[in-house]
Amino acid sequence: MEIARFAVVSFFLVISFFSSGDCNLVLKVQHKFKGRERSLEAFKAHDIQRRGRFLSAIDLQLGGNGHPSESGLYFAKIGLGTPVQDYYVQVDTGSDILWVNCAGCTNCPKKSDLGIELSLYSPSSSSTSNRVTCNQDFCTSTYDGPIPGCTPELLCEYRVAYGDGSSTAGYFVRDHVVLDRVTGNFQTTSTNGSIVFGCGAQQSGQLGATSAALDGILGFGQANSSMISQLASSGKVKRVFAHCLDNINGGGIFAIGEVVQPKVRTTPLVPQQAHYNVFMKAIEVDNEVLNLPTDVFDTDLRKGTIIDSGTTLAYFPDVIYEPLISKIFARQSTLKLHTVEEQFTCFEYDGNVDDGFPTVTFHFEDSLSLTVYPHEYLFDIDSNKWCVGWQNSGAQSRDGKDMILLGDLVLQNRLVMYDLENQTIGWTEYNCSSSIKVRDEHSGAIYTVGSHDLSSASSLRVERISVLLLILLLTILHSFRN
Ligand SMILES: *[C@@H]1O[C@H](CO)[C@@H](O)[C@H](O)[C@H]1NC(C)=O
Ligand SMILES: *[C@@H]1O[C@H](CO)[C@@H](O)[C@H](O)[C@H]1NC(C)=O
Ligand SMILES: *[C@@H]1O[C@H](CO)[C@@H](O)[C@H](O)[C@H]1NC(C)=O
Ligand SMILES: *[C@@H]1O[C@H](CO)[C@@H](O)[C@H](O)[C@H]1NC(C)=O
Repeated sequence: MEIARFAVVSFFLVISFFSSGDCNLVLKVQHKFKGRERSLEAFKAHDIQRRGRFLSAIDLQLGGNGHPSESGLYFAKIGLGTPVQDYYVQVDTGSDILWVNCAGCTNCPKKSDLGIELSLYSPSSSSTSNRVTCNQDFCTSTYDGPIPGCTPELLCEYRVAYGDGSSTAGYFVRDHVVLDRVTGNFQTTSTNGSIVFGCGAQQSGQLGATSAALDGILGFGQANSSMISQLASSGKVKRVFAHCLDNINGGGIFAIGEVVQPKVRTTPLVPQQAHYNVFMKAIEVDNEVLNLPTDVFDTDLRKGTIIDSGTTLAYFPDVIYEPLISKIFARQSTLKLHTVEEQFTCFEYDGNVDDGFPTVTFHFEDSLSLTVYPHEYLFDIDSNKWCVGWQNSGAQSRDGKDMILLGDLVLQNRLVMYDLENQTIGWTEYNCSSSIKVRDEHSGAIYTVGSHDLSSASSLRVERISVLLLILLLTILHSFRN
């Protein structure tokens, strides 16, 4: 039983231009958000201009689940290149680029325990693939200016470091992405657009491991380099998307486009932040508001609460974590707590956790709240062994490691809608195995989009294979006995 390796923290730290030469240039992507107000205006003007153009709703097929002792992540299937090839990529609202493992890469996983077939993207096998050089607009705007030492034949390289210490490096290519456009109720037609994405040449840390290996990461951040921003700027989609991550049946719903049903209440995004940060106001446990220092939610100190689908659990600084945990166990003073894998607080409990533990409600700006039930923040690692999903992000630090970060633990089983045009995010408790209604901007029609579970088809295949192997093994053993 191993949990730790699955507690993915993909909240991205920094994207930098990496050069194989001596020129060691590291640019923090955060820098380019200093002129944010102006660029938002530009986005809006741009969006109004292209209204009436071809804006469609997209249905992305999801797989995976958020259980920390299973995959601990959600992934989507996308098509790239000509002829088109399918890739399975982790869905991550905490980072800004799409990258996939490329042919010839160093330390790329060759197989995956998730029951999916991995594929390497090969620029030379796709007739529509083009390398992006360091003098092209995409490169200079991603790095906020001309690249020192750039000559026209040099590639535009990148390196992304994620919060769990893993990193990926490679170069950018432009090619077709093939997605499912919503054209009717539970009906889609293949559509394509041209986007720039990373061709992964070198992986390190967890990204090279086989345990939860995927073909890459699909950053759904709001920077211009993300797939959604690129598709929006070419007039293909609106910068609005929603996910409903299903940890009961696996997979769920992921759609680009405006969701009209269910209706969600929204809260504003913290301005000038690279990712999806919201203003938390209070935390209520067992119907009592936690008594916390007044500056704990101050956005100067912590830049808000990060919403990140690429992280499995939820993280709080010491000042919140300690009182939260003691209030959660207040009714259970006889429980024996022990630590598993040096970071998880675990205990044995025979009853129904929803009867023995309190609900936790987070309150946000504009009266949006999020209630998390005991069966969601506690996860079982054995029939009566439970561990707490809330994690400690540490003491106050200058580098901002003591963040408040809400991952899949609290996002799943809810419809979460990100409206980048209006700079809001909202959610509501929802059955992620059911369906939602989205608006097709092109025709104005409203269509139903259902849930998908890519993993069920593949794990079924794995199960069948192991049953076959077992039968084979039993047959062999049997023949030996006789
Ligand atoms: C993003 O793109 C828009 C329009 O395509 C542009 O006006 C804006 O300056 C860009 N923003 C950044 C931060 O580069
Ligand atoms: C992309 O779309 C164009 C126009 O609809 C079509 O001709 C082409 O075959 C598509 N390419 C892929 C890879 O689907
Ligand atoms: C964004 O705000 C506008 C104006 O308030 C509203 O009409 C629109 O429906 C909003 N977008 C979404 C996706 O709710
Ligand atoms: C969720 O929706 C699915 C599909 O409509 C349905 O089969 C299931 O019973 C629903 N679950 C709950 C808890 O309502």
